[in-house]
Amino acid sequence: MFFLSLLVSCLPQGGDASPISCYNDQGNATDWFYMYKLPTEHGSKSPDRGLTYLLMDKGSEGWSDGKGTVNETTGALGRTVGQLYSQGTKAEIAYILYNDEKPPEGARDDGGRRGHTKGVVLLDKNQGFWLVHSTPLFPPVRAAGRYWYPDSGTKNGQNFLCVTFPLERFQTVGEQLQINQPIVYDCAVPQSFASSVPALAAMCNEKHIKAASNRSVTLTSKGGTDFISFAKGAAFNDDLYHSWVAPTLHSDLLVQFWVNSPGILPSNCKQGWKVLDILRVSPDGTFSFKTSKDHSKWAVSPGAASASGGGWVCVGDINRNEAEEKRGGGTVCQQDAAVWKAYRKAALECQACGGGAVPC
Ligand SMILES: *[C@@H]1O[C@H](CO)[C@@H](O)[C@H](O)[C@H]1NC(C)=O
Ligand SMILES: *[C@@H]1O[C@H](CO)[C@@H](O)[C@H](O)[C@H]1NC(C)=O
Ligand SMILES: *[C@@H]1O[C@H](CO)[C@@H](O)[C@H](O)[C@H]1NC(C)=O
Repeated sequence: MFFLSLLVSCLPQGGDASPISCYNDQGNATDWFYMYKLPTEHGSKSPDRGLTYLLMDKGSEGWSDGKGTVNETTGALGRTVGQLYSQGTKAEIAYILYNDEKPPEGARDDGGRRGHTKGVVLLDKNQGFWLVHSTPLFPPVRAAGRYWYPDSGTKNGQNFLCVTFPLERFQTVGEQLQINQPIVYDCAVPQSFASSVPALAAMCNEKHIKAASNRSVTLTSKGGTDFISFAKGAAFNDDLYHSWVAPTLHSDLLVQFWVNSPGILPSNCKQGWKVLDILRVSPDGTFSFKTSKDHSKWAVSPGAASASGGGWVCVGDINRNEAEEKRGGGTVCQQDAAVWKAYRKAALECQACGGGAVPC
């Protein structure tokens, strides 16, 4: 019996010894990372125009320049998402790709009533990752056979948050996604996963699920970091940040989002917590760009963590505009000193309550 279990535990999983995980630029498995893909405005003469990025993974003290480009299979994003294409067909994996602007053509299903939400879930029988991101038409379907980064994601700034979770956590991830009502454009959840992650299985089989209009839940990463996932559906019908995230985190928020849409919500200081629209960002402090060049959706507390709150960073799906009050989507928040510092420094200029530009 002992011998048998020893033997079983020594066998590589799915014929591949590397666990499904977020990976960093060095090719090491990492518990989580944040990536800031920079807009073309930065480094306009470089051949990697619009493909360069900053990276911060667990344990790093702030942003580092990305090792290559987001289109390379050897960078953090390529290595992480690339696991979808490199797993042999015999590997027991489950995955969900969802995007309101799905590849290859970007068609929007049913007139934008589904979630405004983008991401990748990939796991095996032990663990996997959830990648929350903002890039249209990304990533390619599994049948494409290889990883690449689309032209549609180059011009503007984009954000990525990858978190590695143990198998048990993916049922809760699936329940949050059910609330978000995503457009799933490629997925597989083999029968052997159905009992451990029924929410992902139902989503992949397009079973209709009656989910709550919103729910927040703590999701602890494989390495023990707590993230709070906020998920809302169409029925929520309110601004994610002002009506819910700020009061729940007991924190004012500075919010970066895509401002090139109709019905943009101005900074709102009406009830308790102030939620300010960011106007200009400078992720690494050496150059800055207007939020009209940045498709990222993130929020940061203006103050550092203290007994009364603060120190939060959220990365997610939702812009502050009228249409997205009635769309599903969410954000994933963490209170980490290094991450907070990195995003707080990036918020340069904000819209004051009542209008006008002020330093954030
Ligand atoms: C990253 O992986 C390399 C081997 O690929 C190893 O030498 C190095 O120590 C690892 N670094 C960390 C921080 O784990
Ligand atoms: C990414 O690389 C592929 C080659 O692997 C190339 O065909 C494609 O044009 C590149 N995409 C971008 C956005 O540069
Ligand atoms: C849903 O959002 C409201 C704020 O609009 C909040 O008060 C409530 O606690 C949320 N519900 C859950 C289950 O998180």
